[in-house]
Amino acid sequence: MKQLRVCVIGAGSISDLHFQAYRNNPDAVLSGVFDYSRERAEEKAQKYGIDHVYNSLEEVFNDSDVDAVSICTWNDTHAEISIGALKGGKHVLVEKPLSMTVAEAVKVEEAVRKYNKTLQVGFVRRFATNTKVLKSFIDSGKLGEVYYAKASCLRRLGNPGGWFADKERSGGGPLIDLGVHIIDICWYLMGRPKVKTISGNTYRQLGNRGNVENLRFYKAADYDKGKNTVEDAANALITFENGASLLVDVSFTLHAKRDEIQVKLFGTKGGAELEPELVLISEENDTIINIHPQIDHLSFDFTNAFQNEIDSFVTCCLTGTKPLAPVEDGVEIMKILAGIYEASEKKCEVTF
Ligand SMILES: NC(=O)c1ccc[n+]([C@@H]2O[C@H](COP(=O)([O-])OP(=O)(O)OC[C@H]3O[C@@H](n4cnc5c(N)ncnc54)[C@H](O)[C@@H]3O)[C@@H](O)[C@H]2O)c1
Repeated sequence: MKQLRVCVIGAGSISDLHFQAYRNNPDAVLSGVFDYSRERAEEKAQKYGIDHVYNSLEEVFNDSDVDAVSICTWNDTHAEISIGALKGGKHVLVEKPLSMTVAEAVKVEEAVRKYNKTLQVGFVRRFATNTKVLKSFIDSGKLGEVYYAKASCLRRLGNPGGWFADKERSGGGPLIDLGVHIIDICWYLMGRPKVKTISGNTYRQLGNRGNVENLRFYKAADYDKGKNTVEDAANALITFENGASLLVDVSFTLHAKRDEIQVKLFGTKGGAELEPELVLISEENDTIINIHPQIDHLSFDFTNAFQNEIDSFVTCCLTGTKPLAPVEDGVEIMKILAGIYEASEKKCEVTF
């Protein structure tokens, strides 16, 4: 089988996990890199032994030596770069979120159909070992019908600043950045039900709290504590046509005791916690039991999940199999995220 020749577009923080995973995959070869910042692209090219640093997106799209691209750029460029790459005959792995708006997401979906190439959305949590194990239990009926899920991803202090804090480039704050992951993972594990209604709230009460001292947090390269146009917290209740519901809250900052991540699913026969650590809950012999699977990654592990995600993408491109995180799921998640922002803005429930 021929190797998949991959160009990574956007050479910032998350790109390292893409570069490393392609480098570890014997069926892929890192053939190029492009970033607005030539310096950053050259640095990554040197680090990962990549020969070609491109000068423009067009050069990447027109190069017949590139089979696929990984898009690791700011959110406002995801749709445009995806469409350009598909048009140039490339397969696409695009970081989450698929786009900033539903209209853009639909255009990407149309391009996938038109140019008949693989597009995988970077819903990396779907590829984590704890998710795969839980999905296998759900598929074999261990939880019965999942009718309720609850997820939280709360940072007490963690607005990364830079483009993340600029609504024009990010599309929003913790909802589109962190909420996208936990909403997707619940929706996916609930069996991708059709959305019926959404109510939600976004808050801009605390700002980015650039004043706080003595506590480290992740900062974008162009961090500037004077700039912030995104919400600092959000919550939402999403109901589905099958009667199930999902309750979510997220924050970049909140007066919380500590950071926390929780993903819980409740079904007619059993329940599960995916995060902070996989555990299954059941009832047997009139007794409630908690089952602790013995696996390497009980919690989300970045390196493991990104390797699985990229291995899966490479296989899909080379064999033509459908990705586990296809474009239509990216569109559905964009509808949910946009629905939450709309419900919050209009201060009323949004109906689908
Ligand atoms: N899956 C995950 O868990 C995860 C984690 C972090 C970030 N992300 C996503 O990855 C993307 C990048 O995030 P990051 O943290 O690496 O940001 P970053 O700011 O560290 O890096 C982004 C890079 O993209 C470059 N860039 C932006 N637009 C470009 C364009 N049109 N052409 C070429 N280069 C361009 C910038 O110069 C920068 O070097 C975002 O969409 C983010 O949501 C995903």
